[in-house]
Parts: sequence; C-alpha cells; structure tokens
Amino acid sequence: MANYTMDVREYSTLPVDELVSRIKRAKKKKNAVLLVHNYQRMEVQQLADFLGDSLGLAREATRTDADIIVFCGVDFMAETAKILNPDKKVLLPDHRADCPMARMIDAPLLTEAKRKYPGAVVVTYVNSTAEVKALSDICCTSSNAIKVVKSLGDKQIIFTPDKNLAEYCRQHTGADIIPWEGHCYVHDQFTTEDVKIALEMHPDAIFIAHPECRMEVLSIADHVASTTGMVNFVTDNQDEIREKGIIIGTEIGLVEQINTEYPDLPLYPLTSTAICATQKLTNLAKVAWCIETQSNEIILDEEVRCRAYGAVKRMIDIS
Ligand code: 13P
Ligand code: SF4
Repeated sequence: MANYTMDVREYSTLPVDELVSRIKRAKKKKNAVLLVHNYQRMEVQQLADFLGDSLGLAREATRTDADIIVFCGVDFMAETAKILNPDKKVLLPDHRADCPMARMIDAPLLTEAKRKYPGAVVVTYVNSTAEVKALSDICCTSSNAIKVVKSLGDKQIIFTPDKNLAEYCRQHTGADIIPWEGHCYVHDQFTTEDVKIALEMHPDAIFIAHPECRMEVLSIADHVASTTGMVNFVTDNQDEIREKGIIIGTEIGLVEQINTEYPDLPLYPLTSTAICATQKLTNLAKVAWCIETQSNEIILDEEVRCRAYGAVKRMIDIS
C-alpha cells in the first residue's frame, strides 16, 4: 500500500521497481498521464504516455482526456499545457526545472521593446514564461518557427527570446526580424571547431543540428530539425546512417533515446558535455512523489493565461 504522507526524500530510497509500480498504480487511480520531453532521463522516458518535442507535447496536452498531466520536462512546457488546459491539474515533478533561456526576457522588457517598435508583431518561442507569451501575438516552436514567420507576410517581427532561432528564421524567410538577445546555453556552446573535430573522427558522417545552435554551426549541418524531427530523420535514413554514421548536435538525452531505439546505428553526440541540467532534475522518485501527493501544481494568473492562450492557440492552428 502506498504511504501518501512520505516526503520526496524518502521516495529516493525506494527501489526502481517499486517506484515504477507506484507511478503506474497512481496514474490509473487518478486518471493521470505522463507527458515527457525528449531530453529527460531514460528511466523517465521509458514510462512516457507521450514522448516528444515541444510542439508534439503541446498538441498532446490538447488531446488527452486525463484529469492530471504530469509534465516531465521544464517549466515552460508544463505552463503551456496549463495554458491549453485550465481545467486540468498540471504537475511538474521538480519545481526548480526551469529553462534559463526563458528567463532572458520578462514582461517589462518586452513591453518596452513593443513601445520602441510599435508596428512590429511579436513572435515568441514557447521557451518563455506565460507572462511573455501573454504579451505576444503568436508563439512558435523549433519545428514550426519558419512556418509561423512566413504566416506573418512582410510584417516587421520582434522575435523572442532565442537569437539563434530568430537568425535561422531570417535566413529561411528573408523576414524583417528584430532578434532578442537570448540563447540556450546547451546549444549555443557548439562551435564549428566542435563539428570539425567530430568530422575528423567520423569523416563520412551526416551532421544534424537543432535550430537553437548558432548560425555558423547550422550552415554546415546536413539537416536542421526539432528534437522529434531528428528522431524522424534517423528513422527515415537508417540505411545511410548505418553506412556513414551520424553526428547529433543537441542535448545528449535525445542521443540516448535514439541509441536505445536503434542500438546498431553508429550515433555520435556532437559533444558529450551538452547536458541540460534542469531537464535532468526529474527522476522516478520525484515523479512517484509528485503523482501520489499531487504536489507542485502549475498555477497561472487567469488573465495572463487567457492572453497567453491566444498566442499558443494561433500557433497550434497553423501547425
Ligand atoms: P524541441 O521543441 O525541439 O524539443 O526543443 C525544446 C528545447 O528546449 C530544445 O532545447
Ligand atoms: Fe532550455 Fe536549452 Fe534546456 Fe532546452 S536545452 S530546456 S532551451 S536550457
């Protein structure tokens, strides 16, 4: 029998088998679903009801008929699920799991930028707070950013908060984009020298990269895609990858996922230091604690949520 008064620290002393059965039992009993991002630890990925990138997870959040969404990812993803589902309980197993890039802009700074460029529309990457989404015209993810920018015709765009994704969109659309100076510390660390070294070790390998990488890295990639886009690329090109190998320019959680799925393929992370520390805060003990005790609920101001909903919904409608 589960003891629902247990502290999260006590859960970390339980064996993996027990944690897994507690999670499964609690999911059934409470009609909960586990939405899991591609960078999570493998043991968490393995329990996912849905595993995917930001867009896939947001879409799934609109489709589920569960009462509770346990979001194994970072805070902006859980907030997006709450923005789309005000009547569901959304839980984040570790409340410290944030995305540093999302903190590189806030509502007062964006308000000031909007004043400076009154004619511009605001496109905000989902890696942002609900307050910033609420001040934006439309959101985007790494898999639909170009499509979102194209949908705006020739309007001037303030693109927040990722300068690399902004530049990637500008290169592919020619749009008049004012980039925000934010970045992802995991992807922005990749350099062309890293790619050169990896290619020296694996000269025939295909190189794929996430659009949060710098433009000089993206410009030498064979393919640029979201995390799920990368998984799909590997699935669709297995024969060529078996022959040549593939270098993957993103967080290592995704490389581990693909490696588990395709153990016979020669996969190489661009660097082994590309780790998103806050994605790794979630583990089985915290998931079991969070679901059994219904802790760490995402609560949003309703007015902010409603305004953010408009920006997220406009993105989903054109994706
Ligand atoms: P994806 O939407 O491609 O999964 O990206 C999310 C993210 O945070 C990448 O760093
Ligand atoms: Fe944020 Fe980068 Fe981590 Fe993605 S990998 S959640 S953008 S810090």
